[in-house]
Amino acid sequence: MAVIRSVIRGVGAHLPKRIMTNDDISKIVDTTDEWIVERSGIRQRHIAGDDELTSTLGIAAAHKALVRAGIDPTDIDLVICATATPDKTFPATAVKIQAGLGITRGCAFDVQAVCSGFVYALTIADNFLKAGQAKRAVVVGAETFSRILDWTDRATCVLFGDGAGAVVLEAQPQHGTREDRGILATRIRSDGRYEDLLYVDGGPGSTKTVGHLRMNGREVFRHAIQKISGVMEEVLVMTGYAPDEIDLYIPHQANARILDGIAKKLNVSPDKIVMTLSKHGNTSAASIPLALNHAFEEHRVKEGSLVMLEAMGGGFTWGAVLARW
Ligand code: ACO
Repeated sequence: MAVIRSVIRGVGAHLPKRIMTNDDISKIVDTTDEWIVERSGIRQRHIAGDDELTSTLGIAAAHKALVRAGIDPTDIDLVICATATPDKTFPATAVKIQAGLGITRGCAFDVQAVCSGFVYALTIADNFLKAGQAKRAVVVGAETFSRILDWTDRATCVLFGDGAGAVVLEAQPQHGTREDRGILATRIRSDGRYEDLLYVDGGPGSTKTVGHLRMNGREVFRHAIQKISGVMEEVLVMTGYAPDEIDLYIPHQANARILDGIAKKLNVSPDKIVMTLSKHGNTSAASIPLALNHAFEEHRVKEGSLVMLEAMGGGFTWGAVLARW
């Protein structure tokens, strides 16, 4: 039976110029390169300059994805930006990205699911395309997390960084089988009871300030492995694939120990898990497309590759997407 699938036509990424190493951070807070690498796997992060906004990074990443896809921006009728660090409270950063790419038709909006934002945005775009409400979408994950970090809190400021990644999706007729190209299954979840474990202590509607990120790292760690494994298992059941049939896992890049824990729980070989966090830290909604872009440039993702994307973030929110490149 013919069905419409959202086929990934291109991927791109962009990181700010300035790099901050663990040694640089040890001059600001009481920490060491050894502690950060051992507990998180992170060696450096990129920090946006004053002239680099979330939209600036997002536009650069989306532009690269469109060039790789060979699709003109004027053929895009949906732009979704996953971000927790928008340029302004409003308008949506997606609208700025839309304008920056020279797109004047269709619609653009932001999705706020923190580190799960890219998985949420892909799921929404997939549903728009399958419903015939759009034909070609740019889905961006872009963040300037450095702006909401408490640079006196060594337990959090060492973990995050800035960056952006994007994919171009196109609605294409496929056969309706699990061998199809495109997004095969999605599952997104949330549970607001866990707000206190990972949040920002400000906002326009409460404190009238931007606020700073607060986290109970140990508790987040405990939930992450269990929740992410659970949602990936659901997506595998939906498509009938076994964990070892997936060619590549492209996880949210939060912490090397979380990724190792998930690999063990699903009994997946660690070499199938793309890990880029040593180079850019946790970039929240940007980290999956950054890792996907890296895997594409290393020729680890090619036509026919079966890729699993997964994330968990503040809320809690979590989710997984299975797609064939
Ligand atoms: N440098 C040196 N020491 C530090 C630092 C630092 N940067 N940060 C904390 N410490 C100290 C603490 O003060 C504590 O000292 P104490 O024992 O004297 O009190 C000690 O290290 C241990 O602290 P813990 O918080 O228990 O350290 P833990 O082993 O849990 O590691 C970490 C902390 C890395 C945050 C870990 O809990 C973790 O990875 N959690 C997951 C959080 C995460 O990845 N969040 C990302 C956002 S959510 C997501 O994306 C999934």
